[in-house]
Amino acid sequence: MNDTVLHALETRRSVKPDRLAAPAPTGAELDRILAIAARVPDHKKLVPWRFIVFEGEARAAAGEIFAAACEAEEKEPPSHVRLETERARFLRAPLVVAVVSRIINRPGTPEWEQILSAGAAAFNLCLAANASGYGTNWVTEWIAYSPFVRGKLGLGENERIAAFVHIGTPREKPEERERPSLSAIVTRWTP
Ligand SMILES: Cc1cc2nc3c(=O)[nH]c(=O)nc-3n(C[C@H](O)[C@H](O)[C@H](O)COP(=O)(O)O)c2cc1C
Repeated sequence: MNDTVLHALETRRSVKPDRLAAPAPTGAELDRILAIAARVPDHKKLVPWRFIVFEGEARAAAGEIFAAACEAEEKEPPSHVRLETERARFLRAPLVVAVVSRIINRPGTPEWEQILSAGAAAFNLCLAANASGYGTNWVTEWIAYSPFVRGKLGLGENERIAAFVHIGTPREKPEERERPSLSAIVTRWTP
């Protein structure tokens, strides 16, 4: 039993995107984290996920897409403040990694199982970054569901955003949050 790992898992908490400062992992350190993210259960080895990295100036460029999506999709013209918020959406944290779930048409591997594998990849990405000393937050927000954003990010018809994992150095330690009691979620099956 590795008590260090268990303690890390027992105390793990997300850190809000705007509480994540520089530095974030780059280069070989980021590659190692992404390789760990890809080491998840995957029925029939379909690799039903991929990653898109937003770092440096690419984050501001993505923000322009979010602002344009807002203008294209909102019923009312968005306010100046709203557009500025969208432009800054990926500037809250120094690194954002999109986890894209991609469904591969293969008999015997239901879509549901492929989506679950993408969720596992997203969480492994969080854990690998956490173990490397960084804070993370798995969010989707409206941009994950915007057809405009999907198109600009190059998502195919079989692809969906599972996560925009924000990564950086926590500005402060997050507070604990309530967890379900085991009695509420665990039963022991009896015939
Ligand atoms: C699929 C998915 C999407 C999420 N999207 C959002 C989101 O858009 N906005 C948000 O505030 N939290 C979102 N969350 C929740 C955050 O990850 C939240 O910070 C986290 O659940 C906090 O719990 P933790 O400290 O145990 O990680 C999402 C979680 C999941 C699993």
